[in-house]
Amino acid sequence: MRFPHDFFFGAASAAYQVEGAWNEDGKGVSNWDVFSKIPGKTFEGTNGDIAVDHYHRYKEDIRLMAEMGLESYRFSVAWTRIIPDGDGEINPQGLAFYNALIDECLHYGIVPFVTLYHWDLPQVLEEAGGWTNKRTVDAFSKYATTCFKAFGDRVKHWITFNETIVFCSLGYLDGAHPPGISHNPRLYFQATHNVFVAHARAVEEYKKLRQYGEIGITHVFSPAFPADGQADNAQAADHANQYSLAWFYDPILKGAYPDYVVGQLKERGWTPDWTAEELTVLKWAAPKNDFIGLNYYQPQRVIKHNPTAEDKPAAQQVIAGAPGKVSFDGVYKTVSLEDKKYTKWGWEISPEGLLEGLRMLRGAYGDIKLYITENGLGDQDPVENGQILDADRVEYIREHLKAVKQGLREGLHIKGYYAWSVIDLLSWLNGFKKQYGFIYVDQQNNLTRKRKLSFGWYKQVIANRGGEL
Ligand code: BG6
Repeated sequence: MRFPHDFFFGAASAAYQVEGAWNEDGKGVSNWDVFSKIPGKTFEGTNGDIAVDHYHRYKEDIRLMAEMGLESYRFSVAWTRIIPDGDGEINPQGLAFYNALIDECLHYGIVPFVTLYHWDLPQVLEEAGGWTNKRTVDAFSKYATTCFKAFGDRVKHWITFNETIVFCSLGYLDGAHPPGISHNPRLYFQATHNVFVAHARAVEEYKKLRQYGEIGITHVFSPAFPADGQADNAQAADHANQYSLAWFYDPILKGAYPDYVVGQLKERGWTPDWTAEELTVLKWAAPKNDFIGLNYYQPQRVIKHNPTAEDKPAAQQVIAGAPGKVSFDGVYKTVSLEDKKYTKWGWEISPEGLLEGLRMLRGAYGDIKLYITENGLGDQDPVENGQILDADRVEYIREHLKAVKQGLREGLHIKGYYAWSVIDLLSWLNGFKKQYGFIYVDQQNNLTRKRKLSFGWYKQVIANRGGEL
């Protein structure tokens, strides 16, 4: 079986991670421009000031994408290039850059798939409370509409937000992303709600313009499975799925929050400040949302957290050495299992988790339209005699594409696969040590681009429409 002709073989990036040119051509300052420069916040103090200089080298990069046969390029727009202070004047030079990038893609027949928000918020808005302030929702609406009007004649695929759970939880629970706040569930839930409303408003604006493209959102897809057959671990996994899946997917697809979580937030005093009008907007937008983008890296293996039994692991022998991470609400713990494979950064490699998760998603939401908007292997690639032999990445992507193919056989409505990432780029917290790309960037040699082993392999896959998988 080959992949259908209307299935996109793509690859992705995000503005802050590739562009650089952080203060050029009228660009405003983003929260990441500031946060990454606070000592100790990022790996070896790396930041996106230069990143991989895609801003100046996009023509070369897109030429390489075309050589690979890439059908679609998912990239994000930096809000601060379009509206430097968040909600004021539009910067014509910012529009010019993305116009040129889009046109370059189209020149080679590469379909642009545009993310409006991949974490780089104008710093002015961050200082005013970021996503916890409803003013940011209004500002986003204006920014999104500006992009639709400027690029919508050529861009027909829009993602509003990338991974709400990540930027909100790392920003308000773990303190690892801006604004660097820890242990504040109240702000965390408020921020997520405001993002969902911003998404719904953008859907509303987009549909009003009648540009006849599609618009959706990208979520982390990390389905939780119990680590073993114990009943309380199964319950813990259900709880994890309510908080990490239902809370994010329900408001987008059903237009209402899951009762289970809403009830608990009330008891715990974490209910966001929401208005009847906002809840109506969510309801109105849900049936108009065209697709969900899934970023799949790994599933969660879950056990019930039992603080009094730390020295006796609850799920017995199956749990490998690592202590695991306790959920922010103390209910469950994610663990590593002895019989699973892991990347060098300890992320589980589980193509079967993707397939099982997709089936779970169909059970919960029916036959929705899906794109895999990110999936890939973060590795320190082996370089031998100047060749980048990333055979492990080939294996990783091959196995995940096979899972996608199986999903298609089962009738799932998956319309594309975007490998993360098209080119080596800046990892938010892991700097340049962790690589994901098909295209290597030589940090020691003026950021020279080189084709990796995986580049030629993906090219073949695309040429054969995955027939050999
Ligand atoms: C996703 C993000 O969560 O994970 C990407 O959307 C990110 O922006 C990717 O780069 C990989 O994360 P990391 O931490 O391995 O670089």
